[in-house]
Order: sequence, then structure tokens, then C-alpha cells
Amino acid sequence: MTKTNGLNGSGSNGHAVPAIDPKVATSPSSPGDLQRLLQEVNAQSMAFNDGDSEARLRLVDAARSLMYAMQTPQEAMLHYCWAEPVSFAAIETCINLGVFTILAQADEPKSVEDLAAQTGAEPELLGRLMKHLATMRVFVENESNSLKRYNDAWPAINGSTIPAVFSLPTWLKQNNYRIPTEGTNCPFNLGLDTKDAFFEFLNSKNPKYPELGAQFNNLMSAYHQGRPSWMDEHVYPVNDNLIKGAKISNEEVFLVDVGGNKGHDLEEFKSKWPNAPGKLILQDQPHVLADIASLHPAIEPMIHDFFTEQPVKGARVYFLQSILHDWNDQNCQKILSQLVAAMTPGYSKLLINENVVPDTGAHWQATSLDLIMMIDLGAKERTKQQWHRLIEPVGLKISKIWTSLNSAESVIECELA
Ligand SMILES: C[S@@+](CC[C@H](N)C(=O)[O-])C[C@H]1O[C@@H](n2cnc3c(N)ncnc32)[C@H](O)[C@@H]1O
Repeated sequence: MTKTNGLNGSGSNGHAVPAIDPKVATSPSSPGDLQRLLQEVNAQSMAFNDGDSEARLRLVDAARSLMYAMQTPQEAMLHYCWAEPVSFAAIETCINLGVFTILAQADEPKSVEDLAAQTGAEPELLGRLMKHLATMRVFVENESNSLKRYNDAWPAINGSTIPAVFSLPTWLKQNNYRIPTEGTNCPFNLGLDTKDAFFEFLNSKNPKYPELGAQFNNLMSAYHQGRPSWMDEHVYPVNDNLIKGAKISNEEVFLVDVGGNKGHDLEEFKSKWPNAPGKLILQDQPHVLADIASLHPAIEPMIHDFFTEQPVKGARVYFLQSILHDWNDQNCQKILSQLVAAMTPGYSKLLINENVVPDTGAHWQATSLDLIMMIDLGAKERTKQQWHRLIEPVGLKISKIWTSLNSAESVIECELA
């Protein structure tokens, strides 16, 4: 990489930093790219208007590149250090006050005075917070069903992730700039001042974050909304690869969602594939299953620790979504080995729905989640090569990887080797 978006290293690791012309900080980072980026924005807008839905994300990326090209490094630094952290705090305060809920339910715009009267906040305080959020283009969808999940997503991310993220520089300095690989010794432990690993902490009802476990579960159900779903025909051939050839009896298990949280994926599966044969089993930890308000009667909840023997043998499909990125290689191989022992040769398939990070041109969603996995859990997002290296030693082979969008997870289909 040759460009740094102007943020030069401070040299805190002891290496000398060459003298730099101070104008570098106050000039646009890459004005020579302006015309090309404008053309790209234009081309992607036309593609979007012509019905290419994937052009929307390419357009957003091009617009972001345009902004970075024309921002000065000084502005970029202030954006990172001032505007974004202050937004976290302002959004969380507005959520606590119920401002987004009030706005989503209102059928006309509300003044700050009205909002202050409804929430009990000092009007000038609310005015100052909202003025900043307006400059940051903050927006919440007016859809009542989703609102609780989105309102919970923010404090779940903010509570569990932001203190850990801000501890990364200190943790790395203290640990000689080595990658954290243990969930009990990573920036999360420093930032949240805990010896617990991430999932134990969520369940610990820590007095500082008593709601965090429940909020995290709602975050998980909101996370996949609006993203391509693994079970859609244009993403993965559910009918040809799973339903055809499945045993028909109602006693047979069709799909086990291992670490399936509150069952949002199986609910979606039941609504999209109502005629798939056999049972659907939802496995997770006891406190997560206890948090489920309602579940389709065809879905059977089952308490199961995925580090222990898999009790369901010979299912057509074992499904792991956003599980392995939470664990280091050693723990992933323990989880996978339990599934290998339960799979029937020539019949059972393992589907892993996770990021497959491309060697170049990765999307920011994958790269930022990779760092968050490192920070919160001592874990990672994996490249294709890393997936092969993880999976093959436990007796599995990857039959094919389906990737529908660069910004979304891929379906990695595995069979016994
Ligand atoms: C990142 S979430 C993914 C949830 C779900 N698969 C999804 O994609 O929405 C990880 C899940 O793993 C579960 N989990 C963590 N440790 C577990 C364990 N030892 N056994 C079973 N589930 C566990 C958590 O409760 C959580 O629901």
C-alpha cells in the first residue's frame, strides 16, 4: 500500500519517522482521483437506476472513496477522533431517552423542544446532541417491528465493542504488538475490565451492562436483515443440494442450526422452504434459548454446548453461521470435530455461512469485523486459504464456496473427506 489517507504513524514503536511537509496535513488526500471517482459515482448511479441492485453498494463505496480523496488528513483525523466517538455517545443518549422511537412513531417532524418535553431532557442538551447527529446524517427506519432490534443493536455494539476497540492500542503496546488469540486475554478483557470471555460476559449480567446479553441476541436477529440470505436460490441451491436426496420421514432431522441464537434463521427457513422434509433443530446455550418469546412449532429448541458431543446424528445439514469467526483455530477445530463425528458419510453436509475475505479488494464490512473479532474474542474472519487450512485437518473437505456479494458472507459447503 502506498497511500495512507494522510495519517502517518507516530513512531511510538521506536522506529524513526522521516520529516514530512506539513502541507500534507491540510491538502486533499488524493485530488488527482476526483474525475475518475465522479465518473464511477455516475456510472454506478446509472446502473442502480437501471435496476442493478448490487450497484447501490458500489455507489456507496465510490462516494466514500470520493470523500476520502477530497478530505484533508487533518479533517480525516478529526472525523475519526471527534465526530465518530461523539456520535456513539450522542446516539446512545438519544436511544436511552427514546428519541428514535418517538420520531419513528410520529407522522410529522418534531421540534427539539417537543422532544425535550416528551423525554425530560434539558432542551439545550438535546439540541446540541441532535445538531451533531444531523451533521452525521443519522437516520433510523420507521418500521415498528424492527425498531426494538435496532434500538438494542446499538447499545449491544457500543457496550461490548467500543470500550474494547478503544483498548486495542494499549493492549497491543502491552503485548509487544502480537495478535490476540485467546478470548480471555484480548482487548475486550482490558476494555471491559473482566476476566470473562465474550460469551461468558454476556451471560454474567454484569451490573454495569445488565441488559447486554438480551441486547446482543436482538442484534444477531437484526444483523442479517437486508443482506443476501444463504437460503435464497440466487445464493445457494437449497433445493438441488439439500432437499433433493434428503430422507423424507418426519423423524429424520433435516437441519441443525448449531449456535443458532434465538432461531431467526430457522424461522426464515421454515417460511421460505415450508416443504423441506424432516425436523429443524435449534441449538444454543440455555440462557439464549430461555430468551425466546415464540418459535415456529416445527422448530425444536435444544440446549447444547458445541464443544461437547453433538447429540443429533446423521442430519442432512449442520449449519454454522457467524460461529467460527468467534473462535481461534484450535477451538474451531474442536467445534468441527464434534460435527464430523455426527455426520453420515455421503449424506450429511456442513454449511458454514461466514466471510471469505478476498486476498485483495476486501469490503470494509469484512475488514472491520475481522478487527472486531480480534479485539472482542481473539478470533478472526478468514480467507479462502485459511478456511481450507482450518477445515481439512479435521476430516472435512470444502465441496464449493458460493459468494453472492463482496460485502456479505459466503456459503461454504463441506462434506466428510
Ligand atoms: C455470533 S452469534 C451467531 C448466532 C447465529 N448463528 C446467527 O448467525 O445469527 C454466536 C452464537 O453462539 C452461541 N454460543 C456461544 N458459545 C456457545 C457454546 N459453547 N455452545 C453453543 N452455542 C454457543 C451464542 O449464544 C450465540 O448465539
